[in-house]
Amino acid sequence: MNNFRFYNPTEIIFGKGTIAKLKERLPKKAKILLLYGGGSIKHNGVYDQVIAALNKHRVVEFGGIEPNPDYSTLMKAVKEVRKKKIDFLLAVGGGSVIDGAKFIALASKYEGDNPWHLLSHSEARNATSALPLAVVLTLPATGSEFNRNCVISRREKRAKLSFTSDLVFPQFSILDPETTYTLPVKQIRNGIVDAFIHTTEQYLTYPAGGIVQDRQAEALLLALIECAPLAMQTDPVNYDGRANYMWAASNALNHLISMGVPGDWATHGIGHELTALYGLDHAETLAVVLPWLLWYKREQKKEKLLQCGERVFGVKTGTTEERIDRTITAISAFFHSLGMPTALSSYGIDPDEAAAIVEKRLVKRGATRGEYNDIDGPAAAAILRMSR
Ligand code: NZQ
Ligand code: ZN
Repeated sequence: MNNFRFYNPTEIIFGKGTIAKLKERLPKKAKILLLYGGGSIKHNGVYDQVIAALNKHRVVEFGGIEPNPDYSTLMKAVKEVRKKKIDFLLAVGGGSVIDGAKFIALASKYEGDNPWHLLSHSEARNATSALPLAVVLTLPATGSEFNRNCVISRREKRAKLSFTSDLVFPQFSILDPETTYTLPVKQIRNGIVDAFIHTTEQYLTYPAGGIVQDRQAEALLLALIECAPLAMQTDPVNYDGRANYMWAASNALNHLISMGVPGDWATHGIGHELTALYGLDHAETLAVVLPWLLWYKREQKKEKLLQCGERVFGVKTGTTEERIDRTITAISAFFHSLGMPTALSSYGIDPDEAAAIVEKRLVKRGATRGEYNDIDGPAAAAILRMSR
């Protein structure tokens, strides 16, 4: 196991009726910017619960943060923060609103000329201050409510980039499973697949002696498989199904299972390119990459694929090659059982064309990922050409 530092200061407040806790948790004197998305919170009672809890606080609102939050929208919010002297951000929504809040938190304190450099020149790494933020989560998927990651899109440049910073951990996050009751089934499917692939990115690499981390990752994969049918249920909704899905997704990307072991993250790197180019949902991009990446890297990932097959999918017999085949097929079959396609061609996208464009973009940026840092432009292209 490698040396590591584990740091996660986010307080989690979980359960029914917990939005009311905002009243006591948010600083009394703060001027709060309430950030939200396209309006789902106004239709499902979440907005009303937040406003009721904040009736003694000074609140300014900023709505309209789109899925895959856009730099230009967020810069408008940064202007508001400065003009209205905001000193606390409250993100109410899914990963897009939360990541938007994280960017606003850093960009509002940024003193350089070009806030896009926080992402494109990795300047977030050197940032020394940020506005504090808190979260009310309405879409379990990204783990953003429990981590230091942020992913921002910039449509005018067809770009989607990320940063990490300790400064953007939420101070606290409220996770009320009842907020998920209005989620369209497609978003629940997306959330389960995103959380599943966050786990495989940190687990399907090579053995590194992380017995605890491996067992935790396997527990998350098994829990997601077990609770998926209950979480997808809509009539009636199942509280424990939603609660377990919510808690699994938060745990899948709160940094814990990655401690001391290698990470891959190439599926995410390639996926972000596909969202920037074709506008696919984040999880949709991951599901058209992961199975093919596993086929492509089956030799390097052999030991962990065999372990995953045996411990998660019960694949215990057959030759090594047969067991690996069956494990990758079982992962795809799980995605299909949720109604999630695993081929680019399902979206009418030509895999050869996508491969050529993504290869060029990754080569231009010199971007490489994978546990051996060997998934470069040409490797990404080879993976995408298989996605048919
Ligand atoms: O905008 P509103 O009207 O709120 O509607 C949203 C949006 O249309 C809707 N929604 C959310 N909660 C709802 C609801 N609809 C009904 N009822 C509710 N309770 O769902 C739609 C999608 O929301 P979004 O926030 O975009 O989804 P998600 O949570 O999947 O976030 C995706 C973004 O997070 C990034 C992705 O790249 C993408 O930009 N990620 C962030 C990560 C992180 N910070 O750690 C890691 C991930 O790998 C990912 O990259
Ligand atoms: Zn993801």
